[in-house]
Amino acid sequence: MLLKGKKILLGITGSIAAYKSIFLTRLLIKEGAEVKVVMTKAATDFVSPLVLSTLSKNNVVVDIATENVWANHVSLGRWADVFLIAPASCNTIAKMAAGLCDNLLMATYLSATCPIVVAPAMDEDMWHHPSTKRNLATIASYGNIVMDVRSGELASGLIGEGRMDEPENILNYLMENIFRGTALKGKKVLITAGPTFEPIDPVRFIGNRSSGKMGFAIARELYMNGAEVTLVSGPVKEVMEYNRVNLLKVQTAAEMLDACKDNISDSNIIIMNAAVADYTPTTVFGEKMKKSTDTLSMDLKKTTDILKYAGENRKDGQFIMGFALETNNEELNAIDKLKKKNVDCIVLNSLQIPGAGFSGDTNEVTIINKDETKIHFKLQSKTDIASHIVSYIISKL
Ligand code: CTP
Repeated sequence: MLLKGKKILLGITGSIAAYKSIFLTRLLIKEGAEVKVVMTKAATDFVSPLVLSTLSKNNVVVDIATENVWANHVSLGRWADVFLIAPASCNTIAKMAAGLCDNLLMATYLSATCPIVVAPAMDEDMWHHPSTKRNLATIASYGNIVMDVRSGELASGLIGEGRMDEPENILNYLMENIFRGTALKGKKVLITAGPTFEPIDPVRFIGNRSSGKMGFAIARELYMNGAEVTLVSGPVKEVMEYNRVNLLKVQTAAEMLDACKDNISDSNIIIMNAAVADYTPTTVFGEKMKKSTDTLSMDLKKTTDILKYAGENRKDGQFIMGFALETNNEELNAIDKLKKKNVDCIVLNSLQIPGAGFSGDTNEVTIINKDETKIHFKLQSKTDIASHIVSYIISKL
């Protein structure tokens, strides 16, 4: 749910692209947003307010006043986290540039205090007209965020520029330009997550119970703070909903190492959260192993410690975070790991606490800094722990 808890005011104006507002509303609702719709009269010729009120689960407003009821355009603009005008017709863009106030959508626009994103839609010749270009430049100079148009088939039958962007791209645009923070803007982050599976034969492997939930939660939080994130993940059920997170899926410790090696040197922040297998079978059987003996032993060889590799090859200014799972002498072992692996801090999972550690949705951790100072975070959702961990990283940069 990319937009959980976000309030989006969708303004729809008279353009054939208004049909896309149906899909857009559905998408925004599916991603957890609360959506209210304001339409111009012209827009109602293209798409029915009933469809939009059903999808948005809110009344759609068109008129400034109906009978004795006055639509409060000021409260609409104050309610929203963003006012998205999609499609924005040539006419509405001209009105925005001039500051005209002849309908509810314009009154809402002129009184809105939230950021305003405009997704234009028009025929190619209108798009290229100097007055349109001037109006777009004018509304951008007022602080409105103007999306680009796409090239393709237009309502006129012509092929060219002027199509409104697709709902998925508008959603991504909102994420990028409105909802993502900037604390980690320009920072490259490499993070590992999940288990690794070390094959024994074509059907069996050595693995562990890591779900990847903690690592994915941290990756999401990093992305939402503006970082450029590469997430190297072992086999997990978790889904990364932000398609700008560079997700590299691997199976084995060796594959994880290779994926990390490609990214370690140019990352500003390295977070090794994966539960990497420490050992892998020396031989992988080509055929499924048959049971013949009562006991079975297997030769295993050490995998490369990726965190240690990063610590040994650290570049100036890199921040490296490791994780530790200990069952005894937790803090001492974690500090020992921190020093041996030459990292800036270790996040110690509290295995002793019910509800913390692998697979669940909650965790309790202690961050141990290289100067051995500690910060403890009590049992809470992995999402909240991720937010504390990322705030900690931001405070250390
Ligand atoms: N790690 C790694 N590559 C490995 C093994 C571990 O990058 N091959 C990283 C983990 O991602 C974690 C940290 O090392 O950040 C600690 O892993 P852990 O398994 O707890 O410790 P080990 O160093 O393997 O030591 P031990 O198993 O003896 O506790």
